[in-house]
Amino acid sequence: MAKTTFIAAGDAFVTRRLPRGGYVGFQPVKELITSHDVAFLNLESTFHENECSPAVDSGGTWAMSDPRTLDDMMEYGFNLFNTANNHSGDFGIEGVLATVRNLKERDMIFSGTGEDLAQAAKACYLETQGTRVALISCCSSMPNAFRAGAQSAEMPGRPGLNPLRFNQVFHLDHEHFAMAKQVAKVSGVNAKQERSIRNGYAVPPKEGTLSIGATKFVEDETSWVESTCNKQDLKRITDEVMEAKRQADVVLVSIHNHHIDGSENYEPPQFLQDFSKACIDAGADVIIGHGPHELQGIELYKGGLILYSIGNFIFQTETVEFQPWDAYANKGMPLDTKVGAYMSERSANGTRGYGVQWPIWNAVLPSWTMEDGKITELKLYPYDLGMELPRSQKGVPVLNGSTKTLQYMQDLCKPFGTEVDIVDGVGIVRL
Ligand SMILES: [Fe+2]
Repeated sequence: MAKTTFIAAGDAFVTRRLPRGGYVGFQPVKELITSHDVAFLNLESTFHENECSPAVDSGGTWAMSDPRTLDDMMEYGFNLFNTANNHSGDFGIEGVLATVRNLKERDMIFSGTGEDLAQAAKACYLETQGTRVALISCCSSMPNAFRAGAQSAEMPGRPGLNPLRFNQVFHLDHEHFAMAKQVAKVSGVNAKQERSIRNGYAVPPKEGTLSIGATKFVEDETSWVESTCNKQDLKRITDEVMEAKRQADVVLVSIHNHHIDGSENYEPPQFLQDFSKACIDAGADVIIGHGPHELQGIELYKGGLILYSIGNFIFQTETVEFQPWDAYANKGMPLDTKVGAYMSERSANGTRGYGVQWPIWNAVLPSWTMEDGKITELKLYPYDLGMELPRSQKGVPVLNGSTKTLQYMQDLCKPFGTEVDIVDGVGIVRL
């Protein structure tokens, strides 16, 4: 392979067009992105003209974007895209298909969703001078209805995203396990399940285990959270990594994950760490994580690179054009509510939620170079999305050389033994 440069940007929740000539600060961002051979972006929305019915469940906000914003994303310089995330199915199967159609009409190279599971799980390939790059994309945080289904001998498949399901088990010390059992008994939450067991339709739980609804508990010496990858999904994805390694010079894996094991959004859960390493073991070069809308650490593993989460790139949730009846009904708001009023209520007029959280509005663009299959350089370019700006203006990236952001990144990387030097407003990761 030839010497190749890469840059990756996280969540693009885009709801406004680029102004003519770009906003103030756009040009340096564009110049940075276009100076790379490969530029990855997570498209955190559906792209259609409001012709698709909203799904009953959404990724939070029902994400919909004018298809012409895809042209704006290419104007930034991006040439490789992920479409698998917790918003892929916000407008059901119609929304998945409309998004795929709008990307294909623009010759955009993407992976993560498709007309069935085979299409969603397949790598896409980007040709650069002297290097062929594969991208496999998947998502671990989504309602079940968003999952693509495989075509069988008898039935067609289901449009959707490439899932990485996971299992979470909550270990409880003896005292709290006894309390949980008590809660289940007193509340009667498991009464239906217990009746099924008595009637022979269900199997009783193993000694030392307890389920409350879909949540599983295990009695242990200490309390902690265990999370593991779904084996079927992990195998499908690592098999595709091996196939992509045969067909390309560089294999990238994109994973969109919102889940955490503990209470801190900046700590990648165990299953995500295991998944990332399994993909590198199978032949992947770089894992590009995103989802929590904020940064997580970087790990160097067996010559591969794991970016656990690269944060937000464009965050314009509050200026989404429409929201469905469900959004208002869920909050007990009148059905003639307008989007702006709904967003003001949700954020308590900009005083709670994402709007006031610093990590949501500050991130880095990782830029790396590969030569002969090795990562030879990794830089981090800090930027911010204008947290203090009004709703109408905030949410677009401006490079800022922020030492605070780079020091924050240094702290996030420490648990993984990754060291970052700060030189002239840029983070240089020691390889
Ligand atoms: Fe997301």
